[in-house]
Amino acid sequence: MAEGPAASDSRGFGRAVRDAFFLLESGAAIVNHGSFGATPRPVLAAAEEWRRRMEAQPDRFMRTELPPAIRAAAEMLGRFIGARGEDLVFVDNATTGVNAVIGSFPLAAGDEVLTTTHVYGAVRNALNRHYRPAGVRIVEAEVPFPVSGEEEILAAVAAGFSPRTRLLIIDHVTSPTALIFPVARLAALARERGVAVLVDGAHAPGMIDLDVPALGVDWYVGNCHKWLMAPKSAGFLWAAPERQAALHPPVISHGYGHGFHAEFDWTGTHDYSPWLAVPAAIEFGAAFGWDIIRRRNHALLLEAVTLINAAWWTAIGGPPALLGTMATIRLPPALAGDGPADFAHARAIRDRLWAEARIEAPVTPFAGALWVRISAHIYNELDDYRRLAAYSPA
Ligand SMILES: Cc1ncc(COP(=O)(O)O)c(C=O)c1O
Repeated sequence: MAEGPAASDSRGFGRAVRDAFFLLESGAAIVNHGSFGATPRPVLAAAEEWRRRMEAQPDRFMRTELPPAIRAAAEMLGRFIGARGEDLVFVDNATTGVNAVIGSFPLAAGDEVLTTTHVYGAVRNALNRHYRPAGVRIVEAEVPFPVSGEEEILAAVAAGFSPRTRLLIIDHVTSPTALIFPVARLAALARERGVAVLVDGAHAPGMIDLDVPALGVDWYVGNCHKWLMAPKSAGFLWAAPERQAALHPPVISHGYGHGFHAEFDWTGTHDYSPWLAVPAAIEFGAAFGWDIIRRRNHALLLEAVTLINAAWWTAIGGPPALLGTMATIRLPPALAGDGPADFAHARAIRDRLWAEARIEAPVTPFAGALWVRISAHIYNELDDYRRLAAYSPA
């Protein structure tokens, strides 16, 4: 990602934006945008307005207003990710999108699915649930961590293919390790071998300037409720045109057999307002400039990494070129303590960060150590990370 302006030059961002637009608790250092996002008031208001329209005349809304409104929102999201609106459908979240794809792509005993050791835990579970009973092998390419650069990622994944590999599932931005994977280059490796590619881009929209069709993949799943700042329950599934007919949502409803849009645009009665508020989220960011947001957040992240590393002297998950607006930094012994590098100990440290210092940051065990993941979005400023750098357990 290109270097942006100095993060200290963040006029109009940080506290000013937080106070004006977000509901986030004051006094806390919330440096975990990555997990669940945070939605600004104007976008919440847009969703509320859609709910008001729904409740004013539920029948009219569900039968006549909702279908074109979903398609209009898909058109606008399509423009944001470089795609045609007709090639994408909304889903409630990335988890649903991934389950739709793997549930629609049956494999036979002996076939292999390739992913990496950085795969999101819920996706690993879904692969086991869908494929293991059929005798499909799930192969996890061991991508080193910390990683030195793209070549190491490419070499690790290339070594994981076999003549039986049918599907490659790769993250665009990894969850436990916050690395941007070279998706287009990885997809090219798969295509050379006739392997289908699903990208889990849960973190990418709003963090990375996207041109989804140019990546050369079969399916791309993304979240709008993370870096795009849409209300929660707004994700999407893009599919190459030739993949759409065989793609079904995990929940089958009236549209079954009537095509891609009919199947996904109605999956039973629920609150569709988060999907319909996606255009408001795109517009909210556009008022600042999405490119300015991405550059400023990336610059702030790098400053934050530098200052935390100056205090801890440990390790950073990857080089700046593989970082977007999240990064992982290894905990120093003073914070990691004597406990094992496991989820229970990680959880205890995370809880203490909040209880003792009102810092919200995920701690994850990975590659035999404990790592903290920091995020940088428009409401963050350097003071948030200074608090983490200065923290010592009571
Ligand atoms: C890589 C990755 N995939 C999938 C998900 C799941 O997203 P959701 O909970 O919105 O389904 C996440 C969430 O953090 C993620 O980081």
